[in-house]
Amino acid sequence: MCGIVGFIGQKQAAPILLDGLSRLEYRGYDSAGIAVITPQGTIDLRKSEGRLKVLSDLVHGGADLNGCIGIGHTRWATHGVPNSINSHPHMSEGGKFAVIHNGIVENYVEIKEFLIRQGVHFQSETDTEVIAQLLEFYYNECHDFFETVGRVLRRITGAYALGILCADCPDRMIAVRKDTPLLLGFGEGENYIASDVTALIPYTRDVVYMDDGEMAVLTREGIQVYDPLQQPIEKEHHHIDWDVSAAEKGGYPHFMLKEIFEQPEALRRAISPRLKNGRVVFEDMKLTAEQIRAFTRIFIVACGSSYHVGMLGKYTLERMLRRNVEVQLASEFRYSDPIIDDRTLVIFISQSGETLDTMEALKEAKKRGAYVLSIVNVVGSSIARGSDDVLYTWAGPEIAVATTKAYSTQLAVIDMLALAFGEALGTVDEAEYAAVVSELQKLPEKMETVLAHHEDIQKFAAQHFNHNSIFFIGRNLDYALGLEGSLKLKEISYIHSEAYASGELKHGTISLIEEGTLVIALGTYSKLFEKAMSNVVEVKARGADVLALTTESRREEMLKTVPTVLAIPDTLDMLLPSLGVVPLQLFAYYVALQRGCDIDKPRNLAKSVTVE
Ligand code: AGP
Ligand code: GLU
Repeated sequence: MCGIVGFIGQKQAAPILLDGLSRLEYRGYDSAGIAVITPQGTIDLRKSEGRLKVLSDLVHGGADLNGCIGIGHTRWATHGVPNSINSHPHMSEGGKFAVIHNGIVENYVEIKEFLIRQGVHFQSETDTEVIAQLLEFYYNECHDFFETVGRVLRRITGAYALGILCADCPDRMIAVRKDTPLLLGFGEGENYIASDVTALIPYTRDVVYMDDGEMAVLTREGIQVYDPLQQPIEKEHHHIDWDVSAAEKGGYPHFMLKEIFEQPEALRRAISPRLKNGRVVFEDMKLTAEQIRAFTRIFIVACGSSYHVGMLGKYTLERMLRRNVEVQLASEFRYSDPIIDDRTLVIFISQSGETLDTMEALKEAKKRGAYVLSIVNVVGSSIARGSDDVLYTWAGPEIAVATTKAYSTQLAVIDMLALAFGEALGTVDEAEYAAVVSELQKLPEKMETVLAHHEDIQKFAAQHFNHNSIFFIGRNLDYALGLEGSLKLKEISYIHSEAYASGELKHGTISLIEEGTLVIALGTYSKLFEKAMSNVVEVKARGADVLALTTESRREEMLKTVPTVLAIPDTLDMLLPSLGVVPLQLFAYYVALQRGCDIDKPRNLAKSVTVE
């Protein structure tokens, strides 16, 4: 999920690789490495944990490596802690292949077991190493680089962008892309690969974006791209005229917008490796069905947006497990003298894995004997390390302070957790299980259709960016969704906003509604649609301007009461917030844009809150 750079030409590769990687540093990473093929036909590999500077110092700016073809990587760990052994490139046991990889190999466990049975020895904990070892395994059979890569691609499943070196073929490099970005850069007598155009800007602006399933063979003279059936194809070239800052953001004006649009891809990464033959499989979870059955109390503890995910998680877990689930703010939980024993499960949710309030709450829970399971984005972070079990969200690095793709992937993980626990407890029936799995698989595509309508939201934001106060109302899942919509808006646009459970309005807050107050009415949850509508009528009667969010199938009905309606595709109720959050993120974004706010770095906020 992080940085890939590759070079083949007449110059020394290592300094170019280090420079390219330094241009990808903004993405965040935990370790780095480079490999070149030496004039003697061996692969020279150097890796280190931590900043790129450590690697660069280690190899004296690249001077220690001699070779005009090479690959470089900054890793953002998904499988195995961040350390120098797990960092990329990974080399095959016999030293013939080196590979860099962004993404996740879903069936790595099965391939690793197969290769171990064949006598292969593994060094790292990563999924990536199976690619390096499998390459050598097949190459020993066919002795053909191109054919070997083809065989590997037919064997692995998952998401990957790959750069591959073969010591026997110092005149070529192979690149592959599936579900993870990769592009090819064309120079004079030299060519490049990169995961992100930023890496190449000083070297070439003539690029080709690879599509899924494509493979490219790079030589000094040129690049030949092959389709998924390995037939040669011609690709359209693009001229990049972005400056470095635009390039970092992939052409988007802000990281937040980029990350909003990355959500379908992030969801695919979080969901697809965990769905196997229609079942949820958490290969990374140690908890057994017996342990799950033994828990008498379940807590979810988190802060901010992660807490909002927890609220949604509570609704879903309670419904599916028929067990009481308490959701608490980490900053409150730790001082609440919580009733916890060794039959308590505490689920902590954190994007950064470094939030101090959450970490302290975790320590408190452990001290009292709880089993701690965390849902975390950053591998090897403090919360991940302190937990008995960790489920990673695999959203990739998130740079904007306001979280978007981390929130969506946390939600997907908790939905899958509800299925897995429901199965262990025998509380979820087969038909529902199958329906949830099937709809989870469709979520990324449905989210793409929501994103395709971003201009409607932009228009709406352009009309309403001047409000002093905005209300979000909804019931049940829509209430928790409203809390997130309201937080996003507050964080980046600085508009005062509140989210209320619709039914609670009449107990006080409705006094704030006056002529022209903007109310965003969330009416996606089908079971309470009619009830939600009555509350919409109440605020309209007091002069509120209402924007409604509902599902496609309710759009017409909603339009009878509210003139401005945004609709998301229909799906199961429990999955609606995953789609419903997107228009709310976009609304916050476009309002903040209109108001000229510093969207990626809002005032007074930090990405990782490590103070109390
Ligand atoms: C979200 O947009 C916020 N910036 C913030 O509420 C965040 O969710 C909270 O600080 C928790 O962070 P964590 O998930 O990294 O623990
Ligand atoms: N899954 C791989 C690993 O954990 C690749 C991570 C990345 O995309 O940086 O090593």
